[in-house]
Order: sequence, then structure tokens, then C-alpha cells
Amino acid sequence: MRLFIAIELPDELKRKLERLRMEIPGVRWVPAEQLHLTLVFLGEVDEATTAILTAQLAQIQTGAFELSPCGIGCFPDRRRPRVVWLGVKPEPKLLSLAQAVQQTVMAAGIILEERPFSPHLTLARLKPPAARELDVFLDRHVTTTLTPFPVQEFTLFQSRLTAQGAVHSQIKSFMLTAAGINRAR
Ligand code: 2AM
Repeated sequence: MRLFIAIELPDELKRKLERLRMEIPGVRWVPAEQLHLTLVFLGEVDEATTAILTAQLAQIQTGAFELSPCGIGCFPDRRRPRVVWLGVKPEPKLLSLAQAVQQTVMAAGIILEERPFSPHLTLARLKPPAARELDVFLDRHVTTTLTPFPVQEFTLFQSRLTAQGAVHSQIKSFMLTAAGINRAR
């Protein structure tokens, strides 16, 4: 199974992000229901390892927190943009969570890409060169802030690659506080 671990977004935020969009030639917007904040991308993992990993992820309890979305930009830079993202204000508990998840994944024997964690929500993908409309969109939203949202859980997702693009499905969600009961969906 092709797996990744991410934070789900509230529906209200997904709808808001959908309304923010502009028609930009060559830009493929991520479908609203698929918007998420990736903590770790695992790639292909076998079933036995997934079972071990799931049990270990349930031990993580770094605590609930709030995330404040702010500022839209692009990777790697504005000259050759490939990804349009929404940033979040630096939140120490998000970094602790990402670190704990990464360590748990590695402890299960999964080898990760050595990419530093760069918290963002991917809004769209494109191939350079970008249309002029993208500059208009980025200029308009460089300092856009959105209502903070609570993060009380994180989710293990499967990503199936299809001719229509990746299809994500939730495998299991894990509560971040001791008061919560880790639950399967
Ligand atoms: P991102 O674009 O928000 O960084 C599921 O594939 C998610 O894992 C993607 O939405 C992507 O999130 C992230 N990801 C990170 N590295 C990846 C990789 N090498 N291949 C595919 N997805 C990756």
C-alpha cells in the first residue's frame, strides 16, 4: 500500500479554499475533499509493517493544538513554480507531532526521504512556465490569513494512483490527547 500520514482539514476551511481559487491556465487545483497537511510520506509499505506501525502511532500523544493558516506561496520559487501552497504559522506542537510521527515510522523499519519537514497545504500543482494569472493570485494572497482550526487527531491515509489522479482513503485516525480514545474508522 502507498501510504502517507496527514492532518485532515475542517470542511469549512476546504470550502473557503475552494472559493479562493482563480481560473489559471495550466494550474491543477487539488480537489477540496483531498486537501490536507502532510506530516510524512511513506511510499509503499507492506501489510505486516502497516499493522505494527498502526499500533505504534496510537501511542503518540503530543497534545492537541491550533493551526493558523496564513500566506499563499509556491515551491520551489516564483520563477519556476510547481506547487502552490498555503502556509501555517509556526506551531511548536505541530513540529513535535511531525517529529514523533517520523521517528515512529522509522522505528517500524520504513526508510524515509531525507527532506526537512516544511509545513504546508498543497493547493495546486502546475508545470512551469506559469501563466501571468498565477502572479496575480499570489500577489493577492501573499498575506491572506484564514480562521485558525483545531487539530485533535492525525490520520494514516492510503493513496491509490489512478488514471484520474491519486485517490486518498483514510485507514485510521489517532487522537492527540490522552483523553481521546484511538479509534478505527
Ligand atoms: P504535499 O504535496 O502536500 O507535500 C500524498 O501523496 C501526499 O504526500 C501528497 O499530497 C504530498 O503532499 C506528500 N508527498 C511528499 N512526498 C511525496 C512523494 N515523494 N510522492 C508523493 N507524495 C508525496
